[in-house]
Amino acid sequence: YCGCGNVFLSFAEKLLVLTVATEETDGFLRFMQSANYFNYTVKVLGMGEAWKGGDVGRSIGGGQKVRLLKEAMEALADQEDLLVLSVDSYDLIFAGGPEEILRKFQKANHKVLFAAEGLIWPDKRLADKYPSMRSGKRYLNSGGIIGYAPYINRVVSQWNLHDNDDDQLFYTKIYLDPLQRQTLNMTLDHKCQIFQNLNGAVDEVLLKFGTDRVRVRNTVYDSLPVVVHGNGNTKMYLNYLANYVPNTWNYEHGCSHCDDDVMDLSQLKVSFPNVFVGVFIEQPTPFLPEFFQRLLTLDYPKDKLKVFVHNNEVYHEKHIQKFWEENRNVFNSFKVVGPEENLSQGEARNMGMYYIRWLAGCEMSLNCICSDRITISPLCLLLSYRKIIGPLVTRHGKLWSNFWGALSLDGYYARSEDYVDIVQRKRVGMWNIPFMAHVYLVKGSALRNELKERNYFVLEKLDPDMAFCRNAREMTSHREKDSPSPESFHMLRPPKGVFMYITNRHDFGRLISTANYNISHYNNDLWQIFENPVDWKEKYIHQNYTRIFTENYLEQPCPDVFWFPVFSEKACDEIVEEMEHYGSWSGGKHEDKRISGGYETVPTDDIHMKQISYEKEWLHFIREFISPITLKVFSGYFTKGYALMNFVVKYTPARQAYLRPHHDSSTFTINIALNNKDTDFQGGGCRFHRYNCSIESPRKGWSFMHPGRLTHLHEGLPTTNGTRYIAVSFIDP
Ligand SMILES: *[C@@H]1O[C@H](CO)[C@@H](O)[C@H](O)[C@H]1NC(C)=O
Ligand SMILES: *[C@@H]1O[C@H](CO)[C@@H](O)[C@H](O)[C@H]1NC(C)=O
Ligand SMILES: *[C@@H]1O[C@H](CO)[C@@H](O)[C@H](O)[C@H]1NC(C)=O
Ligand SMILES: *[C@@H]1O[C@H](CO)[C@@H](O)[C@H](O)[C@H]1NC(C)=O
Ligand SMILES: *[C@@H]1O[C@H](CO)[C@@H](O)[C@H](O)[C@H]1NC(C)=O
Ligand SMILES: *[C@@H]1O[C@H](CO)[C@@H](O)[C@H](O)[C@H]1NC(C)=O
Ligand SMILES: *[C@@H]1O[C@H](CO)[C@@H](O)[C@H](O)[C@H]1NC(C)=O
Repeated sequence: YCGCGNVFLSFAEKLLVLTVATEETDGFLRFMQSANYFNYTVKVLGMGEAWKGGDVGRSIGGGQKVRLLKEAMEALADQEDLLVLSVDSYDLIFAGGPEEILRKFQKANHKVLFAAEGLIWPDKRLADKYPSMRSGKRYLNSGGIIGYAPYINRVVSQWNLHDNDDDQLFYTKIYLDPLQRQTLNMTLDHKCQIFQNLNGAVDEVLLKFGTDRVRVRNTVYDSLPVVVHGNGNTKMYLNYLANYVPNTWNYEHGCSHCDDDVMDLSQLKVSFPNVFVGVFIEQPTPFLPEFFQRLLTLDYPKDKLKVFVHNNEVYHEKHIQKFWEENRNVFNSFKVVGPEENLSQGEARNMGMYYIRWLAGCEMSLNCICSDRITISPLCLLLSYRKIIGPLVTRHGKLWSNFWGALSLDGYYARSEDYVDIVQRKRVGMWNIPFMAHVYLVKGSALRNELKERNYFVLEKLDPDMAFCRNAREMTSHREKDSPSPESFHMLRPPKGVFMYITNRHDFGRLISTANYNISHYNNDLWQIFENPVDWKEKYIHQNYTRIFTENYLEQPCPDVFWFPVFSEKACDEIVEEMEHYGSWSGGKHEDKRISGGYETVPTDDIHMKQISYEKEWLHFIREFISPITLKVFSGYFTKGYALMNFVVKYTPARQAYLRPHHDSSTFTINIALNNKDTDFQGGGCRFHRYNCSIESPRKGWSFMHPGRLTHLHEGLPTTNGTRYIAVSFIDP
């Protein structure tokens, strides 16, 4: 066993990795992580030096890399046994270890080996000069070179150009010189044994999962390349591969670095970081008051939260006002910018970012974009040293989420192979992804450094999230006006692409739908039963409703009169408010134009659901929440959940105080108390004659359910003071 270890060590020592990096970008740190994992010996050249190699992502350049390599090689020139591997690092990872590289290099039987690719760059005219070959990749790529130190030295010592001249052209010319090719014993890694350039080759590679490691497999050459290079326009694809390779995530162990950089708040020497919470309300948004209530339940010290709200909707001003009045002193600060400022979404977000950037000591920015609301679970779970991280949130029961796993060529949505597994949390971890929206956390230091340019949320005609993500992905030192051609996305891109992560390690909540949100009513969330059924249920259905089924949580105060909780306080209040807002109570007259025949024998002072356009929603409520109870208490009876008469009745001594004994035109009736005896009214209740049985203390939110005809002759007992409201449906008439 010792023997093996020694052999391995000697391999590692014989191979020196040289890379040029002027800054510790996210890509560089990832490169180092993979290198350290395999115990490569790495020497970084140029760190801290200003980059002068041009914007090689978009045009030729990169000469600075050769110059630095040349300088470094001078000292190594006489080490005949030393193998030097020169690679890019911002967009490159290792998928295998040094011993494998050595083995494959020896098999190649040359002194210098360059990476190869199928696209020629930068001078297409040189294509004919390349040696002809039957299969494999034909052209040289300078992102990876391996060779014996003296030979590498003889190559790079020929450099006498400028830092912004093209490195790949330099190497290409040397390689294409037949004499040099022979004397320096050079070849290309035509079949991706060591180097996999992804540009033009994305379709050739697949992930290959092993027990400890994940590799990239080239399916054309049936090889397992060791160095994987996201050259050209394939950075996002490399990010995807690096979510797995070499050991980031696999089926056996799951995520291996997720806990590396999560802030352990119990260990923090200082206190909790300040978090700037930007809430952006750019359109009418259902359940907004509930969203704000959730800010209060965030598991985080409120005096560390600085809240900034941009509200673009007059409709929501009352909600924000109410929340502000009740909670203004809860947070460290609470600032609202209202619709009168007439800011675009992008401007509002830039303004938010502007505040955080200059707010002293703000270490995090949580951006909740309320265009789709999120139920944020503990904020702490998100805090991490990563620069941009978002919680995965999905629309309930849908694959719709707040991130994209891949980008199409034109920069829009594309589905990645792992998208569904991530959304469904079959793969759990932190995922480097090209786009996210709606909610994410950005490190304050990143906003003050990498992201310090202003106007991050405004770019061309993109929506603010698209603009932000593209800016983060493609951050370059200076922006070019002309859009680059695909080939020009060729080599190392020096600047700073910031990685964006989505985490699905916890259930962070869900997105709501803002589609079909009609704000022409008074309490518009009542109408959301179809569009956002989960939120509707959470807001409007009684907390103990499900216990009816699990614990038989219902009562039978009179024979065949069942009594159970169904509505929350909010549902009761909002229905009453809605009716009072509508205001056209019938007055309890016998003549009633609203019903067929125009005559009501037992009239109440009421408003029909139909009058407030709530019929469809109400019937859906009956089918969803009442039918299951019917089935439970009247077993064998399957209700159609059909009802013509659905209405809210108002009893008050000044108008109508009681209802004389009657039958209902229903198979069964529900009767839901909408307010509280004693606080809102006195008297009231219901009496069933056949059984000489009265219920005199109705409970708010609880419903009676009783047969309508024959057995259950009943009356409404007089309300002696205040106003009593009930909601009634005659079901299956
Ligand atoms: C790297 O070295 C460490 C310490 O010698 C060893 O435990 C580990 O297995 C090595 N890693 C690999 C991938 O060989
Ligand atoms: C390259 O070097 C190897 C030994 O390292 C030798 O076997 C081979 O013939 C050389 N090839 C050329 C083209 O000189
Ligand atoms: C709001 O801004 C838009 C575009 O910036 C402009 O067209 C519109 O007139 C502005 N509205 C008001 C009320 O200032
Ligand atoms: C909103 O609801 C009102 C009342 O039901 C209706 O008249 C209006 O057409 C609805 N608006 C939209 C955009 O659906
Ligand atoms: C639900 O039941 C529990 C326990 O019986 C009770 O404490 C709680 O107040 C009930 N919830 C509501 C909204 O009435
Ligand atoms: C009805 O019940 C009340 C007490 O709950 C009793 O006083 C009364 O006599 C009963 N009436 C009849 C007709 O049984
Ligand atoms: C009726 O209700 C009002 C307010 O709710 C209260 O002030 C008054 O005392 C009540 N009257 C009786 C007779 O209970």
